[in-house]
Amino acid sequence: MKYIIDTDPGHDDFFAILYAARRLDVIGLTTVFGNSTVENTTKNALRICDLAKLDIPVAMGAGKPIVGDYVVSPIHGNDGLEGGKSIPSTRRDMDPRGAVQYLIEMAHAHAGNLSLIVLGPMTNVALALRVEPRLAEWISEISFMGGSTGTGNVTAFAEANVWKDPEAAQMVLASGVLLRMAGLNLTGQARLSQADADRMAMAGTVVGGHAAQILSFYLKQHSARYRRPDAPMHDPSAVISLVHPDLFEFRDTNVSVELVSPALRGMTICDMREIDPFPGETLPKPNVKVGVRVDGPASVEAMIEAILEYE
Ligand code: RIB
Ligand code: CA
Repeated sequence: MKYIIDTDPGHDDFFAILYAARRLDVIGLTTVFGNSTVENTTKNALRICDLAKLDIPVAMGAGKPIVGDYVVSPIHGNDGLEGGKSIPSTRRDMDPRGAVQYLIEMAHAHAGNLSLIVLGPMTNVALALRVEPRLAEWISEISFMGGSTGTGNVTAFAEANVWKDPEAAQMVLASGVLLRMAGLNLTGQARLSQADADRMAMAGTVVGGHAAQILSFYLKQHSARYRRPDAPMHDPSAVISLVHPDLFEFRDTNVSVELVSPALRGMTICDMREIDPFPGETLPKPNVKVGVRVDGPASVEAMIEAILEYE
């Protein structure tokens, strides 16, 4: 199976990309707005690929959502990867095709053997599905970090990736593609700590050093807001579940996105009821494998081990 990662690096995106590069056949990255402007997330993605010695296309995508405008999110610092200031800038150029054309071309070329890992707002995937509806048949699976079966992080009930482009998320959820969701309810069970950063620093490797700085910044930002010293391992969870499914429990669930209510816009409505229909009743059809449980320490260990393999 080949993979394209759609991403908005992003401190946790950094770890997800490096982990994926060691464990999966990643053929390309597409970038999107989210943790910073798409110009910044694209620069960050190129720098991360150079650091990981990942010689793959990076195709820039959408700079704003399908409806509304780009909203700055401060938690990842001034350029989306403030903790990674020491990562050298890149001389590489982004792929001239752009994210939507690249996704369509690759899905057609690798139909039935390409899955997507989506780690930011789903704008690029939604637009690609609109331009080429056959994408829904060509793509084997989409594993995404986003949503929640419970509380949110941007608002009481909306998670950042879905909240930043709820229309795109709803379009992808309704596409018929096999979907695997790593929501906040799952990622919060796998937590990163300063001891993990110190362990990577102690490795004495170039990548370990950058990774330690990036994690330390991520922890500082999170602990200032969430009143605890550790932080959820968001994006890597959407990758590790593909490599170590034994560490995870998923439940077939009907999920939709609230688009109208100002207070709830961007909420993923996950129907977790375990019920049988009344005679004549039609229950909402499951469309997403929703992550409900993970062995958090084992998942974190799997990610750190991959980072420690780099020089
Ligand atoms: O809500 C967490 C998500 O928002 C992660 O993907 C993080 O990188 C940010 O994009
Ligand atoms: Ca992300």
